[in-house]
Amino acid sequence: MPSTPAPPLRCPLCGGELMVHRPTDEGSRPRLVCGAGHSFDAARQGYYNLLVGKGTVFEADTADMVAARFNFLDAGHYRPLADAVSQAVLALVQPGQPFTVLDSGTGTGHYLRAVLDDVSRVAGDVTAVALDISKFALRRAARLNPEAINLVCDVWQPLPVADAAADVVTVIFAPRNAGEFARVLRADGRLVVVTPRAGHLASLAAEAGMLAIEDHKDARLAESLAGFFVPESARDVDVRLRLTPGEMADLAFMGPAGHHLDRDALAVKLEAKEPVSGVEALFRITVFRPAEGAA
Ligand SMILES: C[S@@+](CC[C@H](N)C(=O)[O-])C[C@H]1O[C@@H](n2cnc3c(N)ncnc32)[C@H](O)[C@@H]1O
Ligand SMILES: [Zn+2]
Repeated sequence: MPSTPAPPLRCPLCGGELMVHRPTDEGSRPRLVCGAGHSFDAARQGYYNLLVGKGTVFEADTADMVAARFNFLDAGHYRPLADAVSQAVLALVQPGQPFTVLDSGTGTGHYLRAVLDDVSRVAGDVTAVALDISKFALRRAARLNPEAINLVCDVWQPLPVADAAADVVTVIFAPRNAGEFARVLRADGRLVVVTPRAGHLASLAAEAGMLAIEDHKDARLAESLAGFFVPESARDVDVRLRLTPGEMADLAFMGPAGHHLDRDALAVKLEAKEPVSGVEALFRITVFRPAEGAA
């Protein structure tokens, strides 16, 4: 049975190196196996579930929220952000050299797709690892990014990734475990973080009962990474959206507000309003380098 050491994964049970076993017989699925015999089968959709023990208590995105996110992103509304994230990562690639990217909280894998399309044209061998705690999200991500290793795991637990394995970690509107990101990044690696800025989707938030984005997010971001990372550069991306009421409902529903909103009731409410023109999405992409002696 052929097995390969890449990508640089480690067993969530014993910390040993995980290898990908790809059975040659038709119908058998690949699996991840460590030297101690712990084994994780690929799900039918191609992702691996490496969640062991009790995950952090959290409210997982529902299948409907994930579908809303997929539809909204797939329609291309946030394309300028995907392009900008991709450019930020591309700037870190050495042409022809191997490149490993970890997308933490990958969701439906939308931004990783954009990154891989661009990076694979420039880098040598590209290795991609994507993780998320939601298997609904990873089902989509595994379909969109079959060349990535898609892992269900909890970012607040030790990550199932080897030390100094990644050239870049991307974190797009997802939780940040600074210590673990520092551990899995190479000393010359970079952390690329996307956050919303104050005023993000403000006019829609007012209509739809979403939480407004507070000011001082920047200070909070730097604080959450302090001791492990220092900001190196930042770029703002503003997108003026033109949306149908259904798209606005998807946009409201795909975020944290989706846990307490009824998407269909929201679509009806938004339908009755004047079209909310000029909903503005305001993002910041910040690139961090590891602090001296952090990992
Ligand atoms: C707002 S979504 C962003 C998804 C994707 N990066 C995007 O921008 O489309 C946040 C993601 O973080 C994931 N997430 C939340 N808590 C997590 C945890 N403890 N471990 C891993 N992923 C988590 C959620 O399942 C969700 O897919
Ligand atoms: Zn093991």
